[in-house]
Amino acid sequence: MLKIATFSLPILFCALLFRGHADSQLYDEEHEVLMKLKQHWRNPPSIAHWTPSNSSHCNWLEITCTSNSITGLSLINMSISETIPSFICELKNLTDLDLQYNNIPGNFPIILYDCSKLEYLDLSQNHFVGPIPQDIDSLSQLRFLNIGANNFTGGIPASVGNLTELKVLQLYQNPVQWFFPTRNWQSAQS
Ligand SMILES: *[C@@H]1O[C@H](CO)[C@@H](O)[C@H](O)[C@H]1NC(C)=O
Ligand SMILES: *[C@@H]1O[C@H](CO)[C@@H](O)[C@H](O)[C@H]1NC(C)=O
Ligand SMILES: *[C@@H]1O[C@H](CO)[C@@H](O)[C@H](O)[C@H]1NC(C)=O
Ligand SMILES: *[C@@H]1O[C@H](CO)[C@@H](O)[C@H](O)[C@H]1NC(C)=O
Ligand SMILES: *[C@@H]1O[C@H](CO)[C@@H](O)[C@H](O)[C@H]1NC(C)=O
Repeated sequence: MLKIATFSLPILFCALLFRGHADSQLYDEEHEVLMKLKQHWRNPPSIAHWTPSNSSHCNWLEITCTSNSITGLSLINMSISETIPSFICELKNLTDLDLQYNNIPGNFPIILYDCSKLEYLDLSQNHFVGPIPQDIDSLSQLRFLNIGANNFTGGIPASVGNLTELKVLQLYQNPVQWFFPTRNWQSAQS
């Protein structure tokens, strides 16, 4: 018994050390992504406190972490007027992204297809234009999608019916054509 203990304790210790290292590495990588986001969005004053020295980003109001890894970004009314960069999906555990009330331009951000865990996406009150993409079902984990108050045009693609987890779909105030595909959205809105 003693033999086993003396043999296995150092291994356990090494395993814990390694785990700690892996965790802090992920934390540092995610911190770096936040710094890049801030720069890409041209340093909006609303996120001036996102600095390398203010290093506990899990305590920042806009950030939600689970087990010290970023799972939520809530950037409401932050005067963001740049696109959403593809490196945002380097936050591999991101499930919730709320960007309502900004001035984000461009087409539907298909770069978010790489955020494979994304469940909650609010893009309402921005300046998005163009069609809702046919392959929107690539966001296969989506539970909530709000694209209200933008300038999306065209119809609602049938592939929305493939979003089996979707509980809420909000499309208000867009010049989309109101025809409905394979699912009954009145009952799905609840
Ligand atoms: C660090 O972030 C916290 C939480 O958002 C904020 O209250 C604080 O003012 C920041 N500190 C600095 C030095 O920016
Ligand atoms: C975050 O991602 C890492 C690496 O992919 C994974 O090991 C970890 O379990 C994830 N954490 C959460 C809270 O999902
Ligand atoms: C957005 O923020 C500005 C000030 O920063 C405030 O005047 C305005 O009411 C806010 N809008 C919303 C919808 O929260
Ligand atoms: C939508 O487009 C019209 C016409 O170009 C413009 O006046 C309006 O401000 C746009 N709305 C949004 C939310 O971008
Ligand atoms: C729904 O998903 C299936 C399987 O990936 C695919 O074959 C089908 O074309 C999709 N339906 C629509 C309307 O995109």
